[in-house]
Amino acid sequence: MSTYRFNEDFVWGVATSSYQIEGAAHEDGRGPSIWDAFCNVPGKVVNGENGDVACDHYHRFEEDLDLMAELGVKAYRFSIAWPRVQPTGSGAFNEKGLAFYERLVDGLLERDIQPFATLYHWDLPLALQQQQNGWESRDTAYRFADYARKIGSVLGDRVASIATHNEPWCTAWLGNANGYFAPGNADLKKAAHVAHHLLLSHGLALQALRADGVKAPLGIVLNQSPAHGATDSPEDQAAASLEYAKFVRWYMDPLFKGEYPAEALEWYGANGPQEVIQSGDFDVIKTPMDFLGINYYTRIFASASGEKRPPGALGFTDMDWEVYPQGLTELLTRINADYKLPPIYITENGCAAKDVLDNGRVHDAERVRFYDLHLAALSDAVQQGVDVAGYFAWSLMDNFEWASGYDKRFGMVYVDYASQDRTLKDSALWYRDVIAQHAGVVLAR
Ligand code: FCB
Repeated sequence: MSTYRFNEDFVWGVATSSYQIEGAAHEDGRGPSIWDAFCNVPGKVVNGENGDVACDHYHRFEEDLDLMAELGVKAYRFSIAWPRVQPTGSGAFNEKGLAFYERLVDGLLERDIQPFATLYHWDLPLALQQQQNGWESRDTAYRFADYARKIGSVLGDRVASIATHNEPWCTAWLGNANGYFAPGNADLKKAAHVAHHLLLSHGLALQALRADGVKAPLGIVLNQSPAHGATDSPEDQAAASLEYAKFVRWYMDPLFKGEYPAEALEWYGANGPQEVIQSGDFDVIKTPMDFLGINYYTRIFASASGEKRPPGALGFTDMDWEVYPQGLTELLTRINADYKLPPIYITENGCAAKDVLDNGRVHDAERVRFYDLHLAALSDAVQQGVDVAGYFAWSLMDNFEWASGYDKRFGMVYVDYASQDRTLKDSALWYRDVIAQHAGVVLAR
């Protein structure tokens, strides 16, 4: 194990999301989401799988909370399924759905685990998609703020933080520019409109929660990567700069500077967000935040020739994502220099591996190495002055990995989907030791 240097109050956590683990898709009044519909489209998800049952967490959450307690985690990042608490995305709320999240939050607090809630991890109520094309419509941002306000009134005094969106780039780009995720549109202009409405909805939700007196720290979760050119050629360097502008700055610049990056705007051209931007939008979008969540998995490798795999890589995960831990240090020091940021949480980091359950054990040495290298890289960023308040491993347990279905395993806990048995992998035992050794350790700075 490497030595990491974090403050004694550093938050050690694990993360999941609603559609990926809950199951109970047709129970207790939950409405359908765009992911329920998308999973029914032939060819969209590996093996035609879906989240109907997933990890059956809706029924087994007490057992899952006990697992977290066993690991000694200090915090749990989960998401709230909007269609479970407001089945059609507007109008009446569903008391049974709200009660589930109250039980979950209370169960965490009883175990001394801080609840980190995310309002939107991609499961939009299907009715909003069918009635008004989901996030293409400005009205959906207002519906989101109403939903946020309701969650604030029910859970706002008990959660340790509220994030509005998880990875708006994925919602906008994978969902609308290339159709890889729900709702499955392949239209660049739609993606630009969706991204703008997501950012607007974030600001509206923050303002609504604050107006209601919610005290929990508020923020957003963005997926980020540094982008590197394959060579020093001006073409490759320009490709890297553009990828970074489309992926990272497209969200960071509006949130922290109140504008889209010119370089990417130019690339979008007539397919950009201009038609949906209204006066005052950027003032809403740049409403100050209490924290910034960053999900880090790999770097972007950009080349004018389209070559995707960097030579000399440390390795590739089961998603075929390059293992590139130093990118986390690079990214964090860069954004820390480029923007005036609130404290940062790493809200996701992890890897998929071909795990095998063997006699009650899963020897996922690759995953242990991945976490160790990334925690060391994170510690380096902290030593270089970046204010990082905590780290959440993705994921507590194997789960429904979106278009990859159940084929890709990201968990520290192995899930046998037939029996729903959970088994701690070696990485879980390792993480338990890391937390035990590092949490509460006072460092001389
Ligand atoms: C992130 C998602 C998360 C999970 C990981 C592997 O993009 O936020 O739900 O799928 O990737």
